[in-house]
Amino acid sequence: PAPQPGPVVPGDPQGPTDPVDPEQPEAVFDEPLAIPPLADSVVDEDGTRVFRLTAQEGSTSFRDGVDTETWGFNGDFLGPTLRARRGEQVAVEVTNTLGESTSVHWHGMHLPPEMDGGPHQEVAAGGTWRPTWLIDQPAATLWYHPHPHGRTEKHVYLGMSGMFILDDDEADAAGLPSEYGVDDIPVIVQDKSFTEDGQLTMASRVPSGVMGETIMVNGTIGAVQEVSTELVRLRVLNGSTLRTYNFGFDDDRTFQLVGTDGGLLAAPHTTTRIQLSPGERAEIVVAMEAGSETMLRSYPQQLGVINDAQGYGAFDTLDILRLVAADDLAPSGAVPDVLPDYGRLDEADVATTRTFVMKNLRMNGQFMDMNRIDEVVTVDTTEVWVVRNEDPMPHNFHIHDVQFEVLSVDGAPPPPELSGRKDTIYTEPGREYRLIMRFEHYANPEMPYMYHCHLLRHEDFGLMGQFVVVEPGTEPPTTLPEDGHH
Ligand code: C2O
Ligand code: CU
Repeated sequence: PAPQPGPVVPGDPQGPTDPVDPEQPEAVFDEPLAIPPLADSVVDEDGTRVFRLTAQEGSTSFRDGVDTETWGFNGDFLGPTLRARRGEQVAVEVTNTLGESTSVHWHGMHLPPEMDGGPHQEVAAGGTWRPTWLIDQPAATLWYHPHPHGRTEKHVYLGMSGMFILDDDEADAAGLPSEYGVDDIPVIVQDKSFTEDGQLTMASRVPSGVMGETIMVNGTIGAVQEVSTELVRLRVLNGSTLRTYNFGFDDDRTFQLVGTDGGLLAAPHTTTRIQLSPGERAEIVVAMEAGSETMLRSYPQQLGVINDAQGYGAFDTLDILRLVAADDLAPSGAVPDVLPDYGRLDEADVATTRTFVMKNLRMNGQFMDMNRIDEVVTVDTTEVWVVRNEDPMPHNFHIHDVQFEVLSVDGAPPPPELSGRKDTIYTEPGREYRLIMRFEHYANPEMPYMYHCHLLRHEDFGLMGQFVVVEPGTEPPTTLPEDGHH
């Protein structure tokens, strides 16, 4: 049955809302793509790899002669790429020099809830926070971004996010293109709206957030990447706050999808399109002919149920990133037919099944409450979460701490692009998604993890809930203790 129309909320954004200038210059795609630097780290005496991230205000020249106020980590816009290997203990010293509290959430990471960087780990203005955890999951393209309660959209939109790449021996042995910035390229795709005087604005035609007129990749508008190898791997992150992209190339060439949110697929999937909603990632491998070029583009979405009345940009065609191959390309070898096997979860092990209905921008009928525990999970058990979007608008669904596998979409087996590990899934209106996951290692009855829609104005509005993981037989408190600020 078609979903019934719901209220056209939410309302006011928390950030700058000066009027949008609709007259944006046409991008010409000759600006060299900015590559976020790999973050420096030091290994301390007990073997922990320590990174430093400073949240700061800055100014960015997206277009010549115009300075735009932006926020970033260790720089004016976005942040460096953090990179660590399975089995390493890492720590990050987060310093907040902004005029307000923020947090840094490690999206996709399996880690203790106290280290997660969600709304219970806000770092006060002028404060510092030093989470530390063991990297204990397969190689993957993860990312980090702020998660302060009610202000996530603003902080991400103004520029605070970055990639967090995980490596392991199995993925290294797969022989995929892996020279960072050369044939292994981070592609953080964002849309922005500018005012007449070139400042970022969150004013919007749509109540659900910013549907920006200007596309940037890694902060570059109209970006071109020179390719010097036969194969290039793009680690594509939808770092936008609202917009979903349906990526393909302007010549409809095929490419190989080799990884999704939580790491490599069991085998490459040859396709011409990959759709990513906010927060999702895809690793794709593209073959280039010497001297040729192609444009990474976003095409109108192919949805079973579509309702664009509220302006979700589902019918837009947008140029994203131009790839230009050199006249001589270094050989790349072939993408293997089979990728590393990290095992699958087994439905026979499921201890608990829960249902999550997103309706009227509420999660199971309730808005987010920082003091309320919505779900109690027992550590080291496997669960099925059944997620349904009963709103007429799109949502997606992200779970902290775990990577899940998709068992079915409306009862049917998942398509290849949903066959791997995921932490975020696009949820079309009226559809039901069955997800399986295992909650391992970390239990704390007083510190919740989040699950929520990653359309960030929806999240800020309260389409989010909290779960704690407990030891068997343990009861969590009825309300959560006050958080201490760092
Ligand atoms: Cu990417 Cu709860 O966040
Ligand atoms: Cu939503």
